[in-house]
Amino acid sequence: MIILGIETSCDETAVSLIKKTSDNVEVLSNAVSSQVELHAAWGGVVPNLAAREHLKNILPVLEESLSEAQLTKDDVDLISVTQGPGLIPALLVGTNFAKTLSYLWKKPLIGIHHIEGHIYANFIGRSDINFPVLALVVSGGHTQLVLMRDHLNYEVVGETQDDAVGEAFDKVARTLDLGYPGGPIVSQKAEEFKSSQTSNPESQISLPRPMLNSPNFNFSFSGLKTAVLYKVKELKKSLSADEFQRLIPEICHEFQQACIDVLIHKTLKATKKYSPKSIVIAGGVSANTELKKQLEESVYEKFPEITYSNPDFTYSLDNAAMIASAASFRWGKMTEEQKAEATTNWKTLQANAGLSMN
Ligand code: KG4
Ligand code: ZN
Repeated sequence: MIILGIETSCDETAVSLIKKTSDNVEVLSNAVSSQVELHAAWGGVVPNLAAREHLKNILPVLEESLSEAQLTKDDVDLISVTQGPGLIPALLVGTNFAKTLSYLWKKPLIGIHHIEGHIYANFIGRSDINFPVLALVVSGGHTQLVLMRDHLNYEVVGETQDDAVGEAFDKVARTLDLGYPGGPIVSQKAEEFKSSQTSNPESQISLPRPMLNSPNFNFSFSGLKTAVLYKVKELKKSLSADEFQRLIPEICHEFQQACIDVLIHKTLKATKKYSPKSIVIAGGVSANTELKKQLEESVYEKFPEITYSNPDFTYSLDNAAMIASAASFRWGKMTEEQKAEATTNWKTLQANAGLSMN
């Protein structure tokens, strides 16, 4: 079946078409219009500006997606849209657009949880992920360990007690005047430090690994972010501006490694307890090359029998293929009655900024 996905929860306007067969999710088109440059000027996403851009871009992005896939509306079997969580003005554009298409095209409509979408990015193009699955969710708004005993079944076994890890990358980037979004630039600086070192990079700057040894699977990144702030204040007092600039890659490297250390430690600890068959990573921070590399190495070293998966880079960041992928599995589990109800969902589906999974 052919599924249309729509995603507008934050600062990407995205429309995708996927083809679902019994054992595969194939992406036919993945159109994304990013607003990153617009929001960078404000140091973060401005919800009303995001909504205005989504309104401007959503039809051209739909057209692009259909033409890239060489399909028409008649080929579409199901429409799916991010229902939440996210910025309400932004979510409203996508959900109302999806409702209108469902009404006009007479196609069923289902709402998808944004994080569920991120997790299902792992099912694009691969069929070797087996349950139970342990998902490490790392995005701008979420940091969670989610145990899935089956498709669409989520138990949060650990989560951040304060900031999400992506949020910490963004705040550290702000502290270091590196711009928005912080993840890509902080990881690039960390890589610069690593490649400038001849052997194993030994950091002169040391930061805490919060909650590393706490007796649960929870995280905390707010204290780490503050530790960077204090370290920067201290360094700026004793160093010239040039000397401080030269230390930025090293600070980024140590900060990134502190995040990676706790994320991997807690994932392995949860793996010991829950014995998953597969471990997946999901969310914007899963675009981080060093995190993916170290997690994969650690999993295969400690649990060689477990399948590890991360989404392709394109599907790590916000996109609509992941929303359509999740929708394809939801549809597969729905009864005939639920499928029939989905044809009138355009009357009732509501964007929900605080939507919870399940
Ligand atoms: O999933 P996402 O696109 O949006 C949410 O659902 O929140 O995640 C965005 C977050 C931002 O905080 C961004 O800084 C972070 O993902 N991010 C990264 C990288 N690329 C994006 N963090 C670390 N390393 C990266 N390469
Ligand atoms: Zn996201």
